[in-house]
Amino acid sequence: MRHLVIGASGQVGGYLWNKLNHDKEDVIGTYFSHPVKNQVKCNFTDAAQVTKLIQDNKPDVVWIPAALPDVDRCEREPELSNLLNVKAPSQVGELARDNGAKLVFFSTDYVFDGTSGPYRETDVPHPLQVYGQHKVEAEKFLLQNVPGALIIRPAWIYSEEPNPRNFVFRIVEQLKNGHTVRAATDQINTPTDSRDLGERALAAVNRGDYGIRHMVGPDRLSRYDLALKIAMTHGFSPSMVEPITTASLNLPARRPLNGGLVTIYTMGS
Ligand SMILES: NC(=O)c1ccc[n+]([C@@H]2O[C@H](COP(=O)([O-])OP(=O)(O)OC[C@H]3O[C@@H](n4cnc5c(N)ncnc54)[C@H](OP(=O)(O)O)[C@@H]3O)[C@@H](O)[C@H]2O)c1
Repeated sequence: MRHLVIGASGQVGGYLWNKLNHDKEDVIGTYFSHPVKNQVKCNFTDAAQVTKLIQDNKPDVVWIPAALPDVDRCEREPELSNLLNVKAPSQVGELARDNGAKLVFFSTDYVFDGTSGPYRETDVPHPLQVYGQHKVEAEKFLLQNVPGALIIRPAWIYSEEPNPRNFVFRIVEQLKNGHTVRAATDQINTPTDSRDLGERALAAVNRGDYGIRHMVGPDRLSRYDLALKIAMTHGFSPSMVEPITTASLNLPARRPLNGGLVTIYTMGS
């Protein structure tokens, strides 16, 4: 199978890119503003660029981990969020369909409001912020217009990669520099290891899964408990993690509190 990963320079896309290369699969990866060796530049908002990429390479699977996943930036810049989280993936979905490729899109647990988590695939989305609203719009478009599309919803993705976009790395760097870390005790979720996500996503594609699939880790815990776990695993004192409430952060975008996902499907791993 030939894979095209649009956004292979990101956290999720980067893991997929490494895994597919490691497995000696036929893979083309793209970056946008963070160049990565052997990847090609692509702006996925530009239909002509994506069309050329698909027609030149004829992928069997088109993956879209590319997005604007910065929840607060989406709230401040809803037009940019609409472009990157709705219009671009919808357009790529149509191009994949028209060229006979399977489409895999990454959505989010933020499609839910966090009043009664954890949520199943059959629960009805009710987002609290622009990011979640736009992901729901993209999901609906792809489900209606791209037959066979697979939509994966992870939550709180983390990895051990030394990348400032990675939550674990940011916390460890702060602690190493002697700073305390503040983390909310009232945001509860199901963190997802990006390696595990990549492997399960590939297994789902190989099985021919389509529709919505939740893919998260086995633990359900607060941001505070997660930060505490990270601090202790890396040999720092638990006293360096300060419990706070989400409200005290005055964030532009509302967060689901009692959130997280469960899956009603057997994931094969
Ligand atoms: N991170 C989380 O905790 C989390 C949780 C739930 C769901 N998700 C979803 O999972 C997916 C992957 O998230 P992530 O954490 O891997 O995000 P990320 O690390 O921020 O990566 C985003 C990717 O999108 C690319 N991109 C941005 N603008 C682009 C453009 N105009 N054209 C082409 N590519 C563009 C970036 O390329 P450059 O970096 O080269 O510019 C990067 O490769 C997203 O759909 C996100 O909504 C993430």
